[in-house]
Amino acid sequence: LGVFTYDPGFMSTASCKSAITYIDGEKGILLYRGYPIEQLAKHSSFLEVAYLLMNGELPTEDQLYSFTDEINHHAMLHEALRSFFDGFHYDAHPMAMMVGVMGSLSAFYHSELNMEDPEHRRISAMRMLAKVPTIAAACYRHSAGWPFVYPRVDLGYCENFMNMMFSLPSQKFIGVDQYIDPVAIKALNILFILHADHEQNASTSTVRLASSTGANPYACVAAGISALWGPAHGGANEAVLSMLSEIGSVDRIPEFIARAKDKNDPFRLMGFGHRVYKNFDPRATIIRETCYEVLEKYSNNDPLFELALALEEHALKDDYFIEKKLYPNVDFYSGIIYKALKIPEDMFTVMFVIARTAGWVSHWLEMMAESNHRIGRPRQIYTGYDQREYVAKENR
Ligand code: CMC
Repeated sequence: LGVFTYDPGFMSTASCKSAITYIDGEKGILLYRGYPIEQLAKHSSFLEVAYLLMNGELPTEDQLYSFTDEINHHAMLHEALRSFFDGFHYDAHPMAMMVGVMGSLSAFYHSELNMEDPEHRRISAMRMLAKVPTIAAACYRHSAGWPFVYPRVDLGYCENFMNMMFSLPSQKFIGVDQYIDPVAIKALNILFILHADHEQNASTSTVRLASSTGANPYACVAAGISALWGPAHGGANEAVLSMLSEIGSVDRIPEFIARAKDKNDPFRLMGFGHRVYKNFDPRATIIRETCYEVLEKYSNNDPLFELALALEEHALKDDYFIEKKLYPNVDFYSGIIYKALKIPEDMFTVMFVIARTAGWVSHWLEMMAESNHRIGRPRQIYTGYDQREYVAKENR
C-alpha cells in the first residue's frame, strides 16, 4: 500500500494558493478579491466583476471602457468555426457543443500563442470571455435551426447575449421584450456575477489540473466545461427543473422528500446541499430576491415556482435536512429564473459556463503567472494485486 494521505473528493486538500476568491462556508461568506458578493451583486456589472477577478482590482471608468471595447472586439467567431456546428445533430445537447466548440478554438489559436508572454495570455483570456456568449447563443440557434446572429458593439454583455439568442433577421425579437427589459437584464447580470467564480470547485480544479501540464488554454477551459456539465455541479440547475416537473404537484412533495432521505434510493433533492456552505449559500439568498422580481414580471402564473417554494419549506423543516445542514444552493433558483426568461432547460448549464469562464480564465492567468507552478499529479492508495507472474494463455 502507498504512504499517502487518503483524501477522496479532496475534502481537506488545498491544491494551490490563490488570491481570487475567499469562502467561509460556516459563516456563508463569499468574497471576490476581498469584495463581498452582496455588494458586487448590488452595484456591479458582470464585466466589471470579470475585470476584478482577472486583474485583482475594480476598474476605473477608463479601464472598464477599454475592457468592454476589447471584449466587443473579440466577440465575433472565426467564420470557419461555423462548420463545426454543422457536424452536430440538431438535438445535440448544447453542453456537448460547448465542449467541442470551445475546444476547437485551440486549433485556431495555438501556433502563434506564446504562453510565456503575459500579453499573449491576457489576450487568450479576453478572447474566451468575449466569445463564450457568442458560442453559447450559436449552440442554441443551431438546435433551433435558426441563422446565427452576430454580436453587436452597441449592446452590453447581457443584452448582446439575449439578442444573439432570440432576435430574428427581421429585427423582431422572439417572445416579448426580454432583452431590452431591465428586469431580465438585471437578473442575468446578477446571475452571471454570482456564478463567476467559486474558488477550487470541480471545474476550476479541472482547468487548473489540465493547465498545469502547459496545455493550450482553450482546450483546458473545454475540460472545465466538461466537468461543469455533471448534475452534482453546474448541471444541477437543469436537474432542479426536471425534478420539479417530476414532482408535479405540492401533494407529492412528502413522497420525494422521503425518497431523498432513503439511503437505498439514489434520488437527491437537486439544488440542495453544498460541499463548502454548511449554513447557507450567500448566493442563494441574493438570487431568491431576484427570483421574486423576475417571476412577478414573467412567471405567467407558472405553478412551478409555487412548487419550488413549497419544496424548500418542507425540506427546511425536515430533521434530515436540518441535521445534514442541507440548504437550497444558488442553482435551486437559477433554473427557475432562466425558465421565466424563456431560456430552454438544456441551456441552463451553458448559462453557467458563460459566467464561470470569467473565473476559469482568472485562475488560469493566476497560475500561469506563478514562476514555479508544478504539474498537478495526485497519488493514489493502490488496492490491486501484489506483484505476480505472467500466465500463458493456455494456462488461464
Ligand atoms: N438530497 C439528499 N441528501 C443529500 C443531498 C441532497 N441534495 N446532498 C447531500 N445529501 C446527503 C448525502 O446523502 C450524505 O448523507 P450521508 O452522510 O448519510 O451519506 C450527506 O448529505 C453529505 O453529502 P455528500 O454527498 O457527502 O456531500 P458533498 O459535499 O460530497 O456533496 C453536493 C455536495 C452539492 C454534491 C451534494 O449536496 C448534492 O449532490 N446536491 C445536489 C446537487 C446540487 O444541487 N449541486 C449543485 C451544487 S451548487 C453549484 C455548484 O457549485 O456547482
